[in-house]
Amino acid sequence: MAIKFTEKYLGSFIRPEEMSAIREETVAASRTLTGRTGAGSDFLGWLDLPATYDKKEVARIAAAAEKIKKTCDVFIVIGIGGSYLGARAAIEFLHGNYYNNKKKDTPDIYFVGKDISSSHLQDILSVCEGKDICLNVISKSGTTTEPAIAFRIFRDLLVKKYGDGAKDRIFVTTDKARGALRTQVNEIGYESFVVDDDIGGRYSVLSAVGLLPIAVSGADINAMLEGAAKARADFAGEDFEHNDCLRYAALRNILYRKGKSVEILAVNDPALTLTCEWWKQLFGESEGKDGKGIYPSSATYSTDLHSIGQFIQQGERVMFETVLNVNCEDGFTIPTDPQNADGLNFLAGKSVNTVNQKAFMGTVMAHTDGGVPNIVIELNGRTEADFGYLVYFFEKACGVSGYLLGVNPFDQPGVEAYKKNMFALLNKPGYEDKKAELEARIAKLD
Ligand code: PA5
Repeated sequence: MAIKFTEKYLGSFIRPEEMSAIREETVAASRTLTGRTGAGSDFLGWLDLPATYDKKEVARIAAAAEKIKKTCDVFIVIGIGGSYLGARAAIEFLHGNYYNNKKKDTPDIYFVGKDISSSHLQDILSVCEGKDICLNVISKSGTTTEPAIAFRIFRDLLVKKYGDGAKDRIFVTTDKARGALRTQVNEIGYESFVVDDDIGGRYSVLSAVGLLPIAVSGADINAMLEGAAKARADFAGEDFEHNDCLRYAALRNILYRKGKSVEILAVNDPALTLTCEWWKQLFGESEGKDGKGIYPSSATYSTDLHSIGQFIQQGERVMFETVLNVNCEDGFTIPTDPQNADGLNFLAGKSVNTVNQKAFMGTVMAHTDGGVPNIVIELNGRTEADFGYLVYFFEKACGVSGYLLGVNPFDQPGVEAYKKNMFALLNKPGYEDKKAELEARIAKLD
């Protein structure tokens, strides 16, 4: 097992009879998911992907990654939301926060098109000066504004630098037939990868969307898919007592129904901070709709114990924590100081991980004493297989949890609201009425 799920710290927060009471409902939600009978069921391509993926296509992704590794110093990944978070989470999970600064035979990797900051774009452009560059633009729709702006800028840079050769340095991941990116692939002949119709952005990390950038970082994408396949097999059944995916979905919904409307995914290693960002998108976009949902939040310990830890310990009791305890012994020990000037010799010879584990245990005890239910997931490794396993665990739990909540976990209608306003305010043709309405409202605010 790549993860160990434990409810033992939940103590008095959830009684056994509450779990019994939600058993049938959870199994029914799982059946709705796996039987493909619920809302959004045409977006379930991720469910069997680890077992049924196209091996030739994954080999083509690996081959493109090899080509990229040989051709460039800097690999620019352009995408937003589900078209970026999974790859970045995986790269940090596997390589830590300083992948780009490490001595390695793979390119540095930068993510752009995930915001509309001109200074961020400028920073990455200046990093690219004098370097050989390849880029992967990822957009399922092929029309999302943030990556489209970044692609224009970086495509121009590559054309200026390499002329016709730019074409061989640009890799496109998009819909098989629709969208502006597919049109450009057809016209210019970029190498391209397909985001299947039945895989939504936030469930796409184990498709070409995530796999190409992850492979460029030197990771073994086949091992990642094997990890996911193991999770798929482990969580396939309907045995509520022994299926942790179902139990996690059930626990979150019991807590939500008891007024716990905020979930904090807490990790004790900064290498997983981006995994938390990926998880927040997964659960936030899947469940936050129809006036319902658990607000997904995150914390990295022990850093955040010196920050929002205060709120978690003593603030309003609206939250529960899912703690992802990374317990990887690396043999890094604390030195002895003959003077013991800092009084730390009681730690001398202990590994840093031992201290982190005691911090984890101390925090779980303190937070549960403070009225915050803690679900704990132990993670003993940070390999490709561990990442694949964890991703699948959360994806399936999210689908089941969304159905338990009574929402469609596979749409995201709410993300259109800001886009419409932004387009109207930027004079996009077709938005004239909206522009007039918004400008009148804004004027009244002055
Ligand atoms: O999960 C989702 O569907 C979204 O977060 C999308 O991934 C995000 O909006 C980017 O969309 P696209 O890949 O079409 O550019």
